[in-house]
Amino acid sequence: MTGRFPILVTGGAGFIGSHACKALHQAGYLPVTFDNLSTGHTDAVKWGPLEKADVRNQAGLSAAIRSHGIRAVMHFAASAYVGESVERPAFYYDNNAGGMISLINACLDTGVKQIVFSSSCATYGSPACGRIREDTPQAPINPYGRSKLMCEDMLRDCSAAHGLRFAALRYFNAAGADPEGDLSERHDPETHLLPLAMQAASGRRGPLQVFGTDYPTRDGSCERDYIHVSDLARGHVLAVDYLAAGGSSTALNLGSGTGHTIFEALEAIRSVTGKAVPHELAPRRAGDPPSLTADPGLAEETLGFRTERSGLEQIIRDAAPSFGLAAAREARHERQAAE
Ligand code: UFG
Repeated sequence: MTGRFPILVTGGAGFIGSHACKALHQAGYLPVTFDNLSTGHTDAVKWGPLEKADVRNQAGLSAAIRSHGIRAVMHFAASAYVGESVERPAFYYDNNAGGMISLINACLDTGVKQIVFSSSCATYGSPACGRIREDTPQAPINPYGRSKLMCEDMLRDCSAAHGLRFAALRYFNAAGADPEGDLSERHDPETHLLPLAMQAASGRRGPLQVFGTDYPTRDGSCERDYIHVSDLARGHVLAVDYLAAGGSSTALNLGSGTGHTIFEALEAIRSVTGKAVPHELAPRRAGDPPSLTADPGLAEETLGFRTERSGLEQIIRDAAPSFGLAAAREARHERQAAE
């Protein structure tokens, strides 16, 4: 035992979960990762033990909770590709909603009462343009978003029936990488805009396809609210602290509050790295809402959470090295050193 307060982190080997483990460690907690490694990476588990198992394995969850003396859980383990969810809905409901049932039952079985849940702005669907508040109606437009909304509903019902307390954190677009270079974004296959655009800029893949240029936005491309993964991770630690201090169940947006279109993101990559993003115009991608931007006010009021690194240029600067790009200032230094 390290004397640190142990937190079970399902999906702790994944992109957001591993950054949350680092933030927990920095805050003095012991993150215990519970992950089947289907999409996560063993080498991202650096700050505590790894229990290799599937979140739908309720007996395995209960055993891990008991053996590590867990009192609170962060639940990330889930499938998170919107497009894939349209093609394989049963798998998404099984893994995401099924995983949530298994976790709730394990918590009831072991007496754990506090759950921080990885929800999504995908639960809002395609709301009218403008900043999205937590009381904006949740009307998801794909199985992924519906599976996350089901999880929120389960938590609400079990909170009322059994005294569980939860914080459902509805993220906007997670991006960036650990500023100290300990962790990065490594999805396979990669489908997210910023990593794909940076890979295109570095020549690691062909031109980026810009999906849809006829949306009702400033320049016709989709608008998203990008939040730095380290800010997200810090938000989760604040949510654990909030529940530990007796906070009541809540659902909060985690976003920067600023939207950027795809073309603005490509220009930001060029400006930060000095490399233009080769791209071509393509038809709309099914299921994409035109614009998603958070009203981040309630998370600030409830948790004292404010983003610190979620300016788009900062996100790109932190992620650039993991895509073989240097931020422009470093690139200049490297060129000068070579001369
Ligand atoms: N895009 C492109 N070309 C690409 C990839 C993406 O134009 O090659 C566009 C998309 O069409 C979209 C925008 O860039 O308009 C952002 O797409 P991402 O795939 O990066 O992110 P999404 O907004 O679709 O999805 C992400 C997460 C989900 C989460 C969702 C909430 O992947 O888990 O944000 O909006 F639910």
